[in-house]
Amino acid sequence: MRHRLTLGEFVAFNAYLTMLTWPMIAFGWVTNMLQRGTASWKRMLEVIDAQPAVADGPGLDEASAGTPVRGGIEIRSLTFAYNGVNVLTDISLRVDAGQTMAIVGPTGSGKTTLVNLLPRLYEPPRGTVFVDGMDVRDMPLSRLRGAIGYVAQEPFLFSESLGDNVAFGVTDSDDGRRSRTDAIAGASAIARLDTDVRDFRPATTRWSGSAGSRSQEARSSAPRSPGP
Ligand SMILES: Nc1ncnc2c1ncn2[C@@H]1O[C@H](COP(=O)(O)OP(=O)(O)OP(=O)(O)O)[C@@H](O)[C@H]1O
Ligand SMILES: [Mg+2]
Repeated sequence: MRHRLTLGEFVAFNAYLTMLTWPMIAFGWVTNMLQRGTASWKRMLEVIDAQPAVADGPGLDEASAGTPVRGGIEIRSLTFAYNGVNVLTDISLRVDAGQTMAIVGPTGSGKTTLVNLLPRLYEPPRGTVFVDGMDVRDMPLSRLRGAIGYVAQEPFLFSESLGDNVAFGVTDSDDGRRSRTDAIAGASAIARLDTDVRDFRPATTRWSGSAGSRSQEARSSAPRSPGP
């Protein structure tokens, strides 16, 4: 050691070096996590800050908010285009509350488009789509969409329990008249899902993409409305 470092100092130095290893690894780990967190946070902010293309606009009939929707639908000379290309041209129809209507047509004829205009997933021109005689553009979105059950052409299920999927968008405070459990039970009965659920092992198991048949998947998403 040429008398520069005593054996004790050498041992101590090595001990300190060993003690430093873990904090250095941890520092790298935390830095990595922070940077990934920042990147994810920026992506989340983009979603949170996004302005919805369809929102409650001027002329909104706030007074109607408390009245339940009966469900009469009328479409008056509706012409709708995506990017300047007409998909629906001069469509008029009327479905009274309680009536059932099936729309049949070839692929690409605009059936989904027509249905998407009812809950304003796309914005119909003013004066063309009416629910209970009121222009859907004058109806508060929460009231309109709260009254519509919608089975999407491509059913989407969250990897949550079946109950969470059925009750997506329903919160306990949402509806003072009935509990969330009652809401789930009622909606499952409408979609004839209750009998299928009895055949599943624990009914609250998480629902992964391949857990059910296409029909079960579709019916699990059926009671869900498109959300406010
Ligand atoms: N978001 C969109 N942007 C642009 N064009 C669209 C969009 N959605 C649908 N289209 C076009 O509008 C037309 C009607 O589509 P739509 O999905 O309404 O038809 P459909 O009758 O539901 O067909 P299918 O029987 O296949 O479900 C098609 O030509 C389609 O390519
Ligand atoms: Mg379609």
